[in-house]
Amino acid sequence: MERYVIRGGNRLEGVVRVGGAKNSILPILAAVLLNKRSEEIILTNVPRIRDVAKMVEILRSLGVSVTWSGSNMAVSTSNVHSYLIDEKLMREMRSTVFLMGALLGRFGEVCISRPGGCAIGHRPIGLHLKGLTALGVQFREQQQGYLYGSSVRLTGADIHLDYPSVGATENIMLAAVYAHGMTTIANAAKEPEIVDLQNFLNKMGARVRGAGTDQIRVEGVSQLASVEYSVIPDRIVAGTLMMAVAASGGDVILEKLIPAHLEAVTAKLREAGVQIREENDRLRVQGVARPEAVEFVRTLPYPGFPTDLQAQMMALLTRARGSSIIVESVFESRFKHVGELNRMGASIIVATDNRTAIINGVKKLTGATVAAADLRAGAALVVAGLSAEGETIVEGLEHVKRGYENLEGDLSKIGADIRRVGGL
Ligand code: EPZ
Repeated sequence: MERYVIRGGNRLEGVVRVGGAKNSILPILAAVLLNKRSEEIILTNVPRIRDVAKMVEILRSLGVSVTWSGSNMAVSTSNVHSYLIDEKLMREMRSTVFLMGALLGRFGEVCISRPGGCAIGHRPIGLHLKGLTALGVQFREQQQGYLYGSSVRLTGADIHLDYPSVGATENIMLAAVYAHGMTTIANAAKEPEIVDLQNFLNKMGARVRGAGTDQIRVEGVSQLASVEYSVIPDRIVAGTLMMAVAASGGDVILEKLIPAHLEAVTAKLREAGVQIREENDRLRVQGVARPEAVEFVRTLPYPGFPTDLQAQMMALLTRARGSSIIVESVFESRFKHVGELNRMGASIIVATDNRTAIINGVKKLTGATVAAADLRAGAALVVAGLSAEGETIVEGLEHVKRGYENLEGDLSKIGADIRRVGGL
């Protein structure tokens, strides 16, 4: 099994570049299905990660032609012939759920297998279905957990989300692009990736307004043009690297990121005693020998502290002076990294609500063999290994590679003693 072997204690120094955002390119790759032109769509700053490879496999299974070289991708959808998503592919990556909106927009029909839960929660899609139903889609449960949706004509509607779900917001935006009339989404998610999706759709000729606020309006259009588009930098990869540098007491410049997307993270790291200087699309991070405890971190929808950086922040705070509290308010079971961190000598208690963790800072962590339960937990174990004494083995890299192009390469470049062993 592939694993990382990390020898902790190195101070990280140097410059590292941040790649394109996983949670931007995935809905954008779904959105290309709305384009019926024969000219190619060119996407740049595309991260080479497994989730993108999986989405490309799904698009090709629908008849989309994709040429992918380096971080550039050329996509043509003129031969798209199906709206049925293969169950095996669907189950391997639940975030394909927003293909529903795109396929309904293009064909007025979709057939997907209900996405399963995953390590961080059971991940329901009720908000997605409620929004799409409001646009005129009728859903029918099929055998083997398939869901068939169809609409004679998608019609704009006023939709209010009970919760600002990222995926549901994206699904409704996609289905509304060709809907007849105006669609409003109230209590919409405000993540930067939603703004990126709006910008891509509008560059193709859609009429979407308000992304980044809690009120999005989509005026239906009749066709889209093929364009070239560059994906925004990945704020979660950037935040992960910031925490790795903070944990190692290092001094590193991150480049090609958008500091404004990381305000909640920067604020918390400064509370922990980490020095951060922002300049345009760069950011300098200077860690300390031991971080200060942070009284309280609660994960929230954007612009709150991102749930995708909760595990990495916890890994940093394991060695803080004092006790910190982390509340995971977005997902119901996103503390699977706690047991692994405690095996490295951390002292973390999870309350019975499984939403609140108390991290009592310890002087040092010691290396151990630990396993990643999900992609961000894996990244957190790497952050912990960088500052632990001795050798840490992180297993479960198949999770990490879903969202990080080359974490070991990025970290080695700035002085970490980390290598990938085993595997194929
Ligand atoms: C997106 O997932 C991201 N994935 C997640 O990143 C991220 O953690 C999450 O947004 C929150 O920011 C992609 O963008 C591909 P949600 P998504 O719908 O859309 C509940 C990573 O590590 N909910 O905002 O699935 C849901 O159960 C991944 O990169 C419903 O109850 O997130 C969860 O508790 C992990 N009903 C909460 O809302 C619904 O119909 C947030 O989910 C939909 C969601």
